[in-house]
Amino acid sequence: NTVYILNGPNLNLLGKRQPHIYGHTTLADVEKSCSELGEALGVGIRFLQSNHEGQIIDWIHEARETGAGIVINPAAFTHTSVAILDALNTFEGPVIEVHISNVHKRESFRHHSYVSLRADGVIAGCGTEGYLLGLRRVASLIAGAAA
Ligand code: DQA
Repeated sequence: NTVYILNGPNLNLLGKRQPHIYGHTTLADVEKSCSELGEALGVGIRFLQSNHEGQIIDWIHEARETGAGIVINPAAFTHTSVAILDALNTFEGPVIEVHISNVHKRESFRHHSYVSLRADGVIAGCGTEGYLLGLRRVASLIAGAAA
């Protein structure tokens, strides 16, 4: 029961990047919290970040083979990538889309998400806690316990 937690471009700089928008928590901190929660929920996690669209697509293909669910913050690719949408459409398990900021409160180009056409749920504006909420949701969907 491995949940892939995928992060798109510039999220390697989380904590340093526009902290007034994204906060001071680093991606390493997020990974640690997700590992702890994964353990409590009884799911393994594979936590990954890339600045390259093709790498994210390759990981989604890997998840097709070995993953039970996906939590994804596609970052700017959210608003541009038909290729990531197509890759997610080949994945059969639950997909939750996470945005740290409330994209709907921001520039209009952030209001549209290609990934939302596939996502089973979307969490935005809950800060880095959104990853934990997303992981909880994916775990309940995997367990078949969710409404
Ligand atoms: C983001 C929102 C995107 O619009 C932006 O390009 C990001 C991060 C978020 O987590 O709030 O890089 O996905």
